Amino acid sequence: MNAPSDAPAHHVHHRDPSALAPEYVRRITRYLPGKPIGELAREFGLDERDIVKLASNENPRGPGPAVRAAIAAAAAELSRYPDGNGFALKAALAARFAVDAEQIVLGNGSNDILELATQAFLQPGDHAVYSRHAFAVYPLATQARGGIGVEVAARDFGHDLPAMRKAITERTRLVFVANPNNPTGTWLPQAALEAFIASVPEDTLVVLDEAYNEYLPPQRQASSAAWVAKYPNLIVSRTFSKAYGLAALRVGYGIMHPKVADMMNRVRQPFNVNALAQVAALAALADTAYVDESRALNDAGMRLLEDELKAQGIGFVPSHGNFLLIKVGDAGRVYQRLLEQGVIVRPVANYGLPEHLRVTVGLPEENRRFLAALKVALAG
Ligand SMILES: Cc1ncc(COP(=O)(O)O)c(C=O)c1O
Repeated sequence: MNAPSDAPAHHVHHRDPSALAPEYVRRITRYLPGKPIGELAREFGLDERDIVKLASNENPRGPGPAVRAAIAAAAAELSRYPDGNGFALKAALAARFAVDAEQIVLGNGSNDILELATQAFLQPGDHAVYSRHAFAVYPLATQARGGIGVEVAARDFGHDLPAMRKAITERTRLVFVANPNNPTGTWLPQAALEAFIASVPEDTLVVLDEAYNEYLPPQRQASSAAWVAKYPNLIVSRTFSKAYGLAALRVGYGIMHPKVADMMNRVRQPFNVNALAQVAALAALADTAYVDESRALNDAGMRLLEDELKAQGIGFVPSHGNFLLIKVGDAGRVYQRLLEQGVIVRPVANYGLPEHLRVTVGLPEENRRFLAALKVALAG
């Protein structure tokens, strides 16, 4: 028997337990979410009701009344596991996009779809291609599988498709394209995008991330669901977090060849989409008028922001999403000065954009609060 020691048991071992993780996991830099309202309230002693959060590209209206009612009704029955196959939601999505239900994979947010694509198809050492200034989860999900991220230089803040095509080799299993892209708001017209997808070799999967698709004018919204019939290596990813206003519930979906879906369904958690999320998404999908109103509100808010920024001589990247990348100079300082005024936006230095801040289009009064606070922040 060992002699009793004063040290608590967990102090006995001196080896750093993080060394047990693979080297590629230890090299990961964690995702930085937008600052939560409660956190800013605690730090600055502010009233939560006075804080404006325009940091995570959420729909400022939240979900509509039909969705709230569906959630309330479903909340009465929480003891049972959700439908692990998401039958009703998949059937509605299949009808909407004229695909088979077997072509749809549901995710815990569309973030889950991105993760599942890497889990099912990326082995350590495989390459995944993505653009500079593209959504942060592409490098994260790639690194988590031991994949090698190949970042392609951006063009006018957006994806340089010819350069991305050149970066694809026989070692490339996945290529990520965000359209519109976050955080830049850049957008690729359908013809150029489809030509790119058609040019990608069959043994490389294209993950087309359309999280902000519903904010595009209808004539610009991609017919990407129909492309899946032509391109068996295409995975289209969509979400209920943005225009549908359901970010808190975490529900998204992918549309793809049934055999690709089968692989992704093998590696996903059996109950990855919770019951409230399923009923809410189903109700949200049916309420097309609400999405149209949200798009109109976003368009008006975007125009206000653009007009005011132009009037003040502040630069920005024209955006096709529900957010705007604004050039402010010393973004860290301007971010802090906005926080002091109770306005949370998103710093994007981790995207290689240290002189920009990303602001989400909010409700009219939130946009005005932001613009007034920005004026103060830039003046001082
Ligand atoms: C381009 C893009 N893709 C995917 C996501 C993931 O969103 P969610 O997991 O909420 O669907 C986001 C969220 O910010 C995004 O900006």
